[in-house]
Amino acid sequence: MNILVCAILLMFVFGWESAETAKILGVFPTPSKSHWILGSSLLKELALDGHEITDMSPFKLSKPPTNYHHIEIEIDKEFFDDWLDKVFKDTAKSPIQKMIEMYTVINNLSNTTLHSPEVQKLLQSDQKFDLLILEIFFDHALLGFAEHFNCPVIGLTTHGVVNWINILVGTPQPLSYVPHVHLSFTDRMSFWQRFANVLFNVLDDTLMSILIDPVQDQLYREAFPNAKRSLEEMKKHAVSVILVNSHFSLSFPRPYVPNMIEIGGFHVNRKVNPLPSNILNFIENSTHGVIYFSLGSNIKPSKLDPEKRDAILNSLSKLKQTVIWKWDDESLLLDKNKYLLGKWLPQDDILAHPNVKLFITHGGLLSCTESIHHGKPVVGIPVFGDQLLNMARAELAGWGVGVSLGNLTEQSFNYALNEVLNNVKYTKNVQTISKRLRDQPLPAMDMAKYWVNYVLRHDGAEHLKSSAQHLNFIEYNNLDVYVLIAAGCGLILGLLVKIICLISMIFKGQSQRRKKSKQS
Ligand SMILES: *[C@@H]1O[C@H](CO)[C@@H](O)[C@H](O)[C@H]1NC(C)=O
Repeated sequence: MNILVCAILLMFVFGWESAETAKILGVFPTPSKSHWILGSSLLKELALDGHEITDMSPFKLSKPPTNYHHIEIEIDKEFFDDWLDKVFKDTAKSPIQKMIEMYTVINNLSNTTLHSPEVQKLLQSDQKFDLLILEIFFDHALLGFAEHFNCPVIGLTTHGVVNWINILVGTPQPLSYVPHVHLSFTDRMSFWQRFANVLFNVLDDTLMSILIDPVQDQLYREAFPNAKRSLEEMKKHAVSVILVNSHFSLSFPRPYVPNMIEIGGFHVNRKVNPLPSNILNFIENSTHGVIYFSLGSNIKPSKLDPEKRDAILNSLSKLKQTVIWKWDDESLLLDKNKYLLGKWLPQDDILAHPNVKLFITHGGLLSCTESIHHGKPVVGIPVFGDQLLNMARAELAGWGVGVSLGNLTEQSFNYALNEVLNNVKYTKNVQTISKRLRDQPLPAMDMAKYWVNYVLRHDGAEHLKSSAQHLNFIEYNNLDVYVLIAAGCGLILGLLVKIICLISMIFKGQSQRRKKSKQS
């Protein structure tokens, strides 16, 4: 009797478990801490909910839950760091040059990901997964994991939304008011800005199709020789949902298909943790407030051009505020009463403190989101990529001032600091936006988890996939229909002209005959 009850209970427990929790593979290959922070924060939350998580990444969670497993991606760290240093130094390079360089790096990363020993071991094992969560960052070849494990895919973009993400679910991107993320335009573009936006998008698509697509295709075929679907098919039909690290209260309103979900701000710590005592004392003892200064996780401030570094130092020394500065080595010896330097700082919790007045940032999406969440205005030093656009948005919305690294001088930096510190409009604006960002039906992390579970509950949620994915360029844009209509109109017009000519000829003929008959 007892055994029977136990068996029924066990069946119930296991039956319930298999319906509610799943085996999820999360692939976050970009060796940039900020991308990983986003990915791992979602995966960790899913693990805490009971899902069995395997994360594949170059970074490792320090205290993972027991149901959180790690597969190491062995990247060529030197190659990647070299590239980042170059990006940081060559501020004069055109965005196009930077894009071309980045593509080479991305291909290299996809290849090293697929060739990492632990990844190869996984591919040769008999492991099974119910879902793939993949960071979409040009790395389309990695969609092969979904083909290999025969499971649905959720894409997560840590980057803004661009065409190589839209194509996966069929999201429209009207170029008249949706600027490319690498241009510092807003959603209100002049004629020449729209012109530049169209050309830049065409250029981006062209470069993608020359520099990324063929290599990704080759990588896909090499790494997944038994794949039944081609990479082209995977790109069109494999992705169930895309989670977008953006939100209309942070950027501009724009159209999305229903399986593209904005979850901007999901990584922000909602529970503020207590600060380490040295940082807390430093902040609370500052009579005029604190400036928090961090150029993000990729950029090493010690590699700053000395001239620019001195310009920054001179500007900061003129202010009454004290400064907490993320700095990566021991080279900088500063007054300990005015400056607190640290290699790693709890940014989220520092920004949450009311005595922190300003954030000097590189303008990365994570930092901007955190700053808005905590209602702190910014002075931005954007270096490349979407940082320029984020700062353009901050300026348009009036919660920050940007000084691009190329234009950074003592004068320009002074101006930006004084403007944001002394004009209350910046703080007021960012607090208004903060209120909007927090006003959502579900907290962003819960929204992300909802959609993950939704895809699991509905077997890949095929019903969400847009029919746009079955159309080619001509059909999607109805070019064939317009051609037919134009041809029809042309035909009718032609006929009309013919008829008018005929009628006028008849009339002419009649009147001539009449004239002739009168003369005779
Ligand atoms: C990937 O890397 C391997 C070496 O690890 C190299 O032999 C191969 O050509 C690379 N593939 C592509 C497409 O670059």
